[in-house]
Amino acid sequence: MNPVNETLAMNAVPTPLAFPPANEPAAPEPSARKAHVTIRGLTKRFGDQSLYENFDLDLPRGRVVTFFGPNGCGKSTLINMICGLIPMDAGEVLFDGKTREETTIGYVFQNYRDALFPWKKAADNIQYPLRLRGVPKADARRRVEELVAEFEVKFDLNRYPWELSGGQQQLVSIMRALAPRPEVVFLDEPFSALDYEATLSIRERLQATFMRSGVTTVIVSHDLEEAVYLADEVFLLTKRPTRVAEVVDVGLARPRGVQTLSQPDFVRTRAHCLEVFQREVRR
Ligand SMILES: Nc1ncnc2c1ncn2[C@@H]1O[C@H](COP(=O)(O)OP(=O)(O)OP(=O)(O)O)[C@@H](O)[C@H]1O
Ligand SMILES: [Mg+2]
Repeated sequence: MNPVNETLAMNAVPTPLAFPPANEPAAPEPSARKAHVTIRGLTKRFGDQSLYENFDLDLPRGRVVTFFGPNGCGKSTLINMICGLIPMDAGEVLFDGKTREETTIGYVFQNYRDALFPWKKAADNIQYPLRLRGVPKADARRRVEELVAEFEVKFDLNRYPWELSGGQQQLVSIMRALAPRPEVVFLDEPFSALDYEATLSIRERLQATFMRSGVTTVIVSHDLEEAVYLADEVFLLTKRPTRVAEVVDVGLARPRGVQTLSQPDFVRTRAHCLEVFQREVRR
């Protein structure tokens, strides 16, 4: 396991409410926009390179947010800092006013090849965050069964990660992140290594999970079409030192599907995002 995973695993401290109830809250009305994750005064430097200077950000509750920005602007670093995987130089992150330690966070790593424990079967990987919280084995198994039904998993979860395809491994990573019913879930370019068919299928299942649970979802995407398609709000980031150039509200109805990609509103929103992006990257 890489050191980042180790840190995340350590971060998932047992909470007093070991296993949240099965009835997840209904997704809030889009109009009820309320900050869930609040970042204030974030500063981060690597050597003499300034990544974030006194950066503030509010991520809305119960919505899907995508981050889109140029390579190296600090998207991965930002979500890693929010999740506590790497330190900030200064600043504060709160989740509904609570600290990170008081919050259940899900995280899907960009590189699924390094993200799963190779010595654990897929089902045990998914159960891992639950077992870490002291959830009894039978309850953890039941939760895996729920996720299998939700994600319509057809392959055998008693296999080891290296016996699975890339798409299957990424699905296992996503199920592991969702197993403890996180309050917020972060996905760093979750589809970048997948083929188009696997991407479409996992996107669709993620959307269904989101619509059912209303979990606050933050996705980094390097594909503008995908960033708009997935999001309720696209956060367009600038070059370093990084700012939010614009938050674009995507008012497209859900469930979205391939037909969404040709709708005039979708095409217009994507064109607007591209315009802002090009302006900011050329500055
Ligand atoms: N541990 C580190 N030490 C030094 N510099 C780092 C470190 N981690 C990241 N950086 C630098 O910080 C900047 C932002 O990196 P980060 O990986 O967050 O960017 P990103 O927006 O996710 O990029 P990409 O789109 O390529 O994934 C880059 O210039 C990178 O080289
Ligand atoms: Mg990155």
